[in-house]
Amino acid sequence: MKYNLVEMYVGEDVINAAIEVIKSKRYIKGPQAKAFEDEFANYIGVKKAVSTSSGTTALWLIYDALGIKNGAEFIAPSHTFIATVTPAMHMGAKPIFVDIDEETYTINVDEARKKITPKTKAIVAVHLYGHPADIKPLKELAEEKELYFIEDCAQAHGAEYRGKKVGTFGDAAAFSFFPSKVMTVAGDGGMVVTNNEEIGEMISILHDQGRREKYKHEYLGYNFRMSEILAAVGRVQLRHLENWIARRNEIAKTYNDILGDVVKVPVPKEWARHAYYVYTIRAKRRDELRMYLKNHEIATGFYYPIPVHLQPAIKKIITPSKLPVTERVVNEILSLPMHPFMKYDDVEFIANKVIEFYR
Ligand SMILES: Cc1ncc(COP(=O)(O)O)c(C=O)c1O
Repeated sequence: MKYNLVEMYVGEDVINAAIEVIKSKRYIKGPQAKAFEDEFANYIGVKKAVSTSSGTTALWLIYDALGIKNGAEFIAPSHTFIATVTPAMHMGAKPIFVDIDEETYTINVDEARKKITPKTKAIVAVHLYGHPADIKPLKELAEEKELYFIEDCAQAHGAEYRGKKVGTFGDAAAFSFFPSKVMTVAGDGGMVVTNNEEIGEMISILHDQGRREKYKHEYLGYNFRMSEILAAVGRVQLRHLENWIARRNEIAKTYNDILGDVVKVPVPKEWARHAYYVYTIRAKRRDELRMYLKNHEIATGFYYPIPVHLQPAIKKIITPSKLPVTERVVNEILSLPMHPFMKYDDVEFIANKVIEFYR
């Protein structure tokens, strides 16, 4: 494809950072992971960050540390990546899927309220596509019902809600550095962030075999650590992140200006700073449009074509309830190429091909 959906940054600074770690012979539990945690915590504006082997394991640690397991229920959207819920399910918790808001594609707070039961222990907000969920009412609901509030920030590095970064609002939040994300570590990686020192300490212990000191294991933990090479790459990428998000916003604006009258384009709420992990439109005759763009060397994506509650693996365990908005939008969504290295002409070309299709 001439126009890729995503593009990764491989600057000299990234390459050199990785080489330096290889030469150092210090591959785990060294200065890079520690520095990346401190720098990421500082960037987000939280007290503590723990680097992890993926976004999935970051969520796993949160669910384990907060006790979202053994029969507990938790509220989550179905319009997300499956890893939002699977880690807690492995530990015996049950997701209660809730429909989304049609405009932001994030969890609908009124629907969430209806599904809380005495077994509910947490509400999970996913800041999908890089747009924050409406955090204030969600957090108020969690406080009223004495539930944990967890943020899945896997797609939303640097996104803001009412002027504050996502990840600062939950009891804990998980980020992913999967290669397509807004920033990566050139491999699988993740980060847990929290302002609660007790939760942060527990997550740190759990991610390293349940120990504080070398030979003493206080808890049943995991090896969910991030390697030093990856952390070094993450530190370099973090320095570029603000510029990349600004560029993503410019690209989205260009798309919106050209496409606004033809398809439903993403319009950020007045309280949001969108990180535009993906640029998702809603399109009539979506599959035909996708094929038309493919024929013009333009890659597109679906995030996600099958909602989690209808995935075969989930249906085996949980009888699906109806989620009308989710089930409708998954047939209309289409993500167009979005990355900070796109030129204005590329964006214009792609947008004009969409217009051409509808003509
Ligand atoms: C919303 C969401 N949650 C969780 C994850 C899991 O992250 P990872 O792939 O790093 O395990 C991802 C990304 O893949 C995601 O998009």
